[in-house]
Amino acid sequence: MLEHKLITKHIGNIDPLSIDDYVGVGGYAMFKKALGMTRLDIHDAFEASKLRGRGGAGFPVAIKLMAMAKETRKPKYVICNADEGEPGNFKDRYLMENNPHQIIEGMLIAAYATGSSHGYLYIRGEYAQSMATMQQAIEAARQAGYLGSNILNSRFDFDLEIRSGAGSYVCGEEFALLESIEGKAGRTRVKPPFPTAKGLFNQPTLINNVETLATFPVIIAMGGEAYAKIGTPTSTGTKLISLSGNVRKKGVYEVPFGVSMRKIIEELGGGVGAGRKIQMIQLGGACGPIIPEYMLDMVIDFERFEEFESKTGAGAIIVIDDRHDMFAILEQVSEFFTHESCGKCTPCREGNVHMRNVLRRFVNKTATEQDLLMLENQARVIHQTSLCGLGQTAPTAIISTLHYFRFDYLNRIEDSMQEVA
Ligand SMILES: Cc1cc2nc3c(=O)[nH]c(=O)nc-3n(C[C@H](O)[C@H](O)[C@H](O)COP(=O)(O)O)c2cc1C
Ligand code: SF4
Repeated sequence: MLEHKLITKHIGNIDPLSIDDYVGVGGYAMFKKALGMTRLDIHDAFEASKLRGRGGAGFPVAIKLMAMAKETRKPKYVICNADEGEPGNFKDRYLMENNPHQIIEGMLIAAYATGSSHGYLYIRGEYAQSMATMQQAIEAARQAGYLGSNILNSRFDFDLEIRSGAGSYVCGEEFALLESIEGKAGRTRVKPPFPTAKGLFNQPTLINNVETLATFPVIIAMGGEAYAKIGTPTSTGTKLISLSGNVRKKGVYEVPFGVSMRKIIEELGGGVGAGRKIQMIQLGGACGPIIPEYMLDMVIDFERFEEFESKTGAGAIIVIDDRHDMFAILEQVSEFFTHESCGKCTPCREGNVHMRNVLRRFVNKTATEQDLLMLENQARVIHQTSLCGLGQTAPTAIISTLHYFRFDYLNRIEDSMQEVA
């Protein structure tokens, strides 16, 4: 079986809104187990698990936990990043709407391990259903005594509340998210300091993705060593894949790291439609690289993704078949970043507009060799000089196609010259 259900194993078997159902399958037992462990033991379990964040950057969870543990200032906060604004990603929504209590349990374990007393769930504003489901689950958990003061007579206090995302993709970036929760415009901060030292209201703050936090109870249940045996030695455990585009069976699939994209697309996604061929796939979402069909045997792991100088760990696979014009897709991607740029720094604010305009000329068959050189140069500069991850990853799709599909650029320039002649 290609799928390996660790964090999604109860989905479909329980009513997401029933805390009794969740408790019936062992829910909140791992939080109780954690309460009986020392903070050091919990930290050791996460270190042994080698769990890396699932929100995109793949940062080791144990390092963040350790950084939080060193901070003595109170209060400390835990934030669950559920902004999920990256086109092509929908796995956090799937978790929130199908097993909300597992996320709350993960936040409880994180809060206990770091000595945090308050939590926020920052949920994408368009996700009304996710917000309603999470709100009901929080209330049920509070009534059952899992949230509030002196939880289960442990002298540990923790409560959490929902904040609606501010409608902008950049608000998922952790510093912009902090600003947004503080009631300011969602714009990044200059770093360091990092959130574990100076986060929400300048206090120590742990920020993790929904999927990362939903994995916390699994690691307490299995133990770090057992978890680390799944996947590959450096990308351990499982990954939720949001599979979309031109495949028959779009959806969220949980697979161990180390399986190939071909298997995911063909065995889980049912391949492309009859008579069609895969032309390319985009990995990670709009911010990810576009790679050709012949690379489909590449396996899913953090190291492979990092080779593209991008953080594509959020796990989207967007399949593009042979009906599409690559330049029209790139123009759309560029339009997305032009729209979402917060405007704080020049390379991203101005550069995305320029790249979009150049791409438009490739779509319209009026591009020249000069355009190709300009695009190459601009993409590099924006990637290297933008202030936050949005600008740094905005040109990833362009840079990857300049590498893998260079002939398409040259052919389009030739077509353009013929149109003029
Ligand atoms: C433009 C931009 C948008 C982001 N959006 C999200 C998001 O929606 N959800 C998320 O978990 N991380 C997002 N991130 C990554 C966060 O900054 C941060 O690394 C992550 O929440 C940390 O959680 P993790 O360690 O569990 O991955 C985004 C980053 C950038 C640069
Ligand atoms: S890179 Fe873009 S989104 Fe990030 S701070 Fe600069 S302008 Fe804003």
